[in-house]
Amino acid sequence: MADIKKTWYKEMSVYQIWCRSFCDSNGDGIGDLPGVYSKLDYIQSLGVDGIWFSPIYPTPNCDYGYDISDYKNINPEFGTLDDFKKILDEVHRRGMRVFMDLVVNHTSTEHMWFKEACKSVDNPYHDYYIWGKGKGNKPPNNWLSVFEGNAWEYVKSVDEYYLHVFAKGQPDLNMDNPKVREEVKSIMRFWLDMGVDGFREDVITFISKKEGLPNGFPLPVATGIEHYKHGPHLEEYLDEFRQVLNEYDCFCVGEGPMTSLKDAVDFCSEGPNKKLDMLISFDHMSCDCFVTDWIKTPFSLTKLKNTMDKWQQAMYGVGWNALYIENHDHARIIDRYGDLRFRVQSGKMLATMYMFQCGTPFVYQGQEIGMTNIDIKHLYEYKDVMTFNNYNLFHKILHMSEARFCKLSSQVNRENARTPVQWSAEKNAGFTTADEAWFNINPNYKEINVEAAEKDPNSLLHYYRKLIKFRKENEVVIYGDFKQYYKNSNKLFVYERNYEGKKLLVICSFSADPVKFVAPEGIDLANGKLVINTYDVLEPAKNEFVTKPYEARVYLFD
Ligand code: GLC
Ligand code: CA
Repeated sequence: MADIKKTWYKEMSVYQIWCRSFCDSNGDGIGDLPGVYSKLDYIQSLGVDGIWFSPIYPTPNCDYGYDISDYKNINPEFGTLDDFKKILDEVHRRGMRVFMDLVVNHTSTEHMWFKEACKSVDNPYHDYYIWGKGKGNKPPNNWLSVFEGNAWEYVKSVDEYYLHVFAKGQPDLNMDNPKVREEVKSIMRFWLDMGVDGFREDVITFISKKEGLPNGFPLPVATGIEHYKHGPHLEEYLDEFRQVLNEYDCFCVGEGPMTSLKDAVDFCSEGPNKKLDMLISFDHMSCDCFVTDWIKTPFSLTKLKNTMDKWQQAMYGVGWNALYIENHDHARIIDRYGDLRFRVQSGKMLATMYMFQCGTPFVYQGQEIGMTNIDIKHLYEYKDVMTFNNYNLFHKILHMSEARFCKLSSQVNRENARTPVQWSAEKNAGFTTADEAWFNINPNYKEINVEAAEKDPNSLLHYYRKLIKFRKENEVVIYGDFKQYYKNSNKLFVYERNYEGKKLLVICSFSADPVKFVAPEGIDLANGKLVINTYDVLEPAKNEFVTKPYEARVYLFD
């Protein structure tokens, strides 16, 4: 059996906060840090060990904080640096940790560096960004952005184009410039010195671009991606940043869209060359779509099982996995991999399915009460640059009407995960006292909200608490290996974890219909203890049973 190094970050569970929609304290309709502070009891009650804040820095909000105009301050819409320090102290006092989002592939066009960079080609900040001369009246190459048409934007004052892999307001930093890397390290130190416990590094695998910026293979979006999804100096730069992290007792999880498993293992392998402690993979989030969330396909359980199995096997004893099924970039999971007719039951099953694998689980705000997607009927009600870009694309290429687009969007759009957290059945779901929140509140808040979930002993919320607690108290969940059974079943996800003589058997049904489960050979359920169950189990343990809709059971063998 592989030798696993025990570390605090492997034992924790993390709660992700997308502040704008978490809790509004001052009635302006926008979630803020005092709002977070007021909910620390709640967050701690989940049993989590840390909070990851999606960006809370000053920003003009062209990508809701992922466009930063000042890396060493707090978004005034959210509060002040003192509000943040107050949270940091209080979270630490409660024995939990705080992680920041480090967004250094790009800044905002409102950042002082960029404003300077546009003044002249001789400005010391000019080389902080990636510039190119136009070809006639065409941009330097054929790259398309992920969010907004062309990846190049012309700036008259310097007669050059700047590169933006994401939105126009997100110019890419020139990481090849050593001064830029020094700035990144200084940002890291600023927060680490303040006491922050680590980072989630945004699209960190995109930071190195191929020399000469050659044309890319033409695609409807993100043309050129092959030249930066794992650029020539990526490893070098990650190593350089790692040096800083190594000076502190902190951890970092990198976000790596389209990063191969092989690269992920290389980056995360324990030892002197470890670059990242874990990597946010996208593979398991593509089991009901093709290439992008927006091209829907029927959900495939076998695809989900295969991908998860691969990451589990490859990382075990070598690196470490980040486990998640929701964040601010994807539609709500029950709508995708679960079943709205069995919202709570399928939510419980999905929670069990991912949290009991080997890795550090992340829970995204609202996931723990089973928030769902929202039906928005008009384009103007949306807020996100990606939505508008996708509308333009679908309209242009497929002649899709606004109504049809909105229908699709209600299934796949990441904005589904950005509606305000539903705290109670009161006005505006208890999120704000303003007349209106900054973004639509899901009308199902009367039924789905924290207050109601607290009162219901069978709620998803209480179930999440139970899973988080069980994981914390049982090393087999944290450090056990992973072995799958019935790989070809398109109804059941069954796996086993083993650690120091203990065994855990996790049985998850992805079906509303009854499915016959037979214990794998060599396992006698009568010898196990049923430690987690989503329905009452009255009959004594038999080696086979028929599942209830989306049932999950976990047996522990000592
Ligand atoms: C990451 C973030 C996403 C953001 C993008 C550009 O994927 O998670 O929200 O839009 O990077 O920064
Ligand atoms: Ca507010």
